[in-house]
Parts: sequence; C-alpha cells; structure tokens
Amino acid sequence: MLKCQKGKFSLPDDITYLNCAYRGPLMKHIEKIGWEAVSQNNNPALIQSTDFFDPFLKVQKLFAQLINTPDPNRIVLIPSSSYGMANAANNVDLQAGENIVILDEQFPSNYYIWERVAKEKGAHLKIVGNPDKTRPSGELWNERILNAIDRSTKVVAIGSVHWADGTMFDHKAIRKRTEEVGAYLIIDGTQSVGALPFDVEEIKPDALICSTYKWMFSPYGTGLGYYGPRFDHGLPIEESWMNRKDSHLFEKLVDYEPAYKSGAMRYMVGQSSNFITLPMLEACLEQLLAWGVSDIQSYVQSIGINSLELVKEAGGILATPENRAHHLFGIYLSDEIDKHKLRQELKDRKVIVSFRGNSIRVSPHLYNEAGDFEKIAECMRAARTSLKGSTDLQMR
Ligand SMILES: Cc1ncc(COP(=O)(O)O)c(C=O)c1O
Repeated sequence: MLKCQKGKFSLPDDITYLNCAYRGPLMKHIEKIGWEAVSQNNNPALIQSTDFFDPFLKVQKLFAQLINTPDPNRIVLIPSSSYGMANAANNVDLQAGENIVILDEQFPSNYYIWERVAKEKGAHLKIVGNPDKTRPSGELWNERILNAIDRSTKVVAIGSVHWADGTMFDHKAIRKRTEEVGAYLIIDGTQSVGALPFDVEEIKPDALICSTYKWMFSPYGTGLGYYGPRFDHGLPIEESWMNRKDSHLFEKLVDYEPAYKSGAMRYMVGQSSNFITLPMLEACLEQLLAWGVSDIQSYVQSIGINSLELVKEAGGILATPENRAHHLFGIYLSDEIDKHKLRQELKDRKVIVSFRGNSIRVSPHLYNEAGDFEKIAECMRAARTSLKGSTDLQMR
C-alpha cells in the first residue's frame, strides 16, 4: 500500500487541498525539470533536429503503458480536450438523421463540438439525463445510457467518470452495445486517467481524450489523445508540417509531401515538440507508473474508509462504492445542511473543494490523508441547521 506522498508536493501547509479535479499541483521535481528546460532554451544552437521528435516518443511509450495499448503510435499530443475531441468529431462520418449519445451536464469540451457537428450534418444529440440530481443514481443512469443507444446512433461520447460527481460508467457494457449498432465510442478520460485504471485493450474505445493537467500533474496546455484504427484515414483540424511523412528531413521541407504520417500521428498538435512542457509531462508519467495507477486508487479509497462514515453521519449522501470513483466523488447534502454556511465553514478552515449543484465535489490524491475528510465532516456538522446537528457536534 502506498503511503502519503505530501512531501513530493509544495502545497501550503495551511490548506487542505481536495480539488485535484480542478487542477493537479506540480510536484517539486517536475517544477525543477521545468526550470531546467526553460534554461536550456537560452541557446537554440543546442537544439538538434532530432529534439523536435524524440522527446515525444518517450511520452508515447509511457502513456501507452499507462492506458495499456500495445501501439504507442496511436497516441498524440493535444493542447486541450476540446482540440482532441474536435479531431474525433470531424471524422466520424455523421449522416443526417443519425444521433450522438451524450450525458447530462457533460463537460463543455465534450459537448460543444458534438452540438456543432450535429447541426452541420442534420443529426441530433440524444442527451441521457441523470435520473436524480439531488442524490447519486449511477446504476439507473447506466441503464438509461444503454437504452438510449439505437440503430441510428453514430457516436457515444461520454466521460470516463462524470466530472462533477465521479459516477462510474459501465464502459464494457456500453462498448458492447455500440459495437452491436456500429457506433463509435469516444471517451473523455480527463477526470480519471492517471488515478483510476483505464485499459484500452479491454474497453477498445475509438478515441480516448485526456487533458493531463489534473490527474497526471502536468503543466497546463498539455493533453494526450489515443485514436484507434477507425480514425486512421481522417482529416486533422490543422495541417502541421510535423505531421507529414519524413518531416524530420529538414532540408526537404518545401518538397511538399502529400502523405500524412501513418494512422493517428496526423492528429498531433502543431509545435508538438514543446521543449519545456514535454520533459515535465514525461517525468509525470514516469512517476505515475512508479506509483501504479491502481495503487493510487487504492490509497484514496483507504483514506475514506472510516472518515467518510463521519461525513455520512454529518448529513452527507454518497453513492455506493461500486458506483463511484474514490479519487473524485460527490457528497450530496441532506436538507439539514445549510449550504451557504457550509461554504463559509470550508472557506474559513481553508478546505478546498468544488461546489457542484446540490453536492460538493471532493477529489483527493496521494497528498491527502483521512484527517482531510474528517475536516469536511467537521464543517458539515457546523453547518447543520437542526438541533440534532449541534448535539452531535458537542458529543465529538
Ligand atoms: C471532463 C473534463 N474534460 C475536459 C476538461 C478540460 O477541457 P479542456 O482541456 O478542453 O480545457 C475538464 C476540466 O475541468 C473536464 O472536467
């Protein structure tokens, strides 16, 4: 079992950071790698033509290991999830009358592009609603997703977990159903890849798109996308010289080359050789692999075993463990909790979480401990409106 890794981060001692789903903090050694990379850019004469391509090869290999795909060439650098999603959405050969299944209150980077292509092609969005927004309802939601997929479904585009409350989706069952009707399965992995195992060999998504600045601790502006064989002959949203065949032969750059590099490599963002962020991203992936993604998930689960019972006693409603992630989950609030007061209590005690509708989104990592969840329970007890709440408080 992993131990708390707070020493690897420079989070201030007086805050309780439970918001990795908002932004992952930079680790100390990653920050150092970043500073060194900046310094190395003082003298461009030291940058060789191979430096434009080689660093990403290492990132590809590491990320391929992280998501379990045998083919690193299916992995490309993207600057954002919206960018990676656009490359997928523009290449699904959508026809008039077809539908795209998405989920209620999905993150906008996995919504707007589908809204746009649906409008352009005369297709429509089928938005599968969360059955109950006031409490966790994962099982029923999964059932609804499967029922929504029909013969006219061209794409199912969902998050790997729901970004607001960590609801887990049954990727295997959804993949099976999409295969039955010939639909693409496109997954936004931003809110779980790196903290919760995702196995490309097992799930076989057509694309897996991840911003890496949260659960992979990389600098902002970096992301990684996996594109499966169905995208091998698509058109990228931009025409980077780096994505053409033999682009490493600098003396031949204006012998314009009609062919893209093979398969997914055409979807790499321009200037993919980011000399500062790539070494940082590489070291982040190395660290995640050294920890082990399933061990990270086990650690965040372990710190909640007793402490989340206190949260429940204080009026928090949580999904059953099999229906939610442990690194990101919603604490739905019973009517006894004054939300305004809770917000203030959390602020006063410098407990950093996100408020999402009727729940608070809590997203711990290896720098957190059980005591951090207990602080949430304390804030909730203090924010209870009923007499029972104040009695509970005195008894502790
Ligand atoms: C599910 C999900 N996808 C993507 C993103 C980030 O999107 P982008 O990289 O397009 O800014 C977020 C940010 O909170 C998110 O929660």
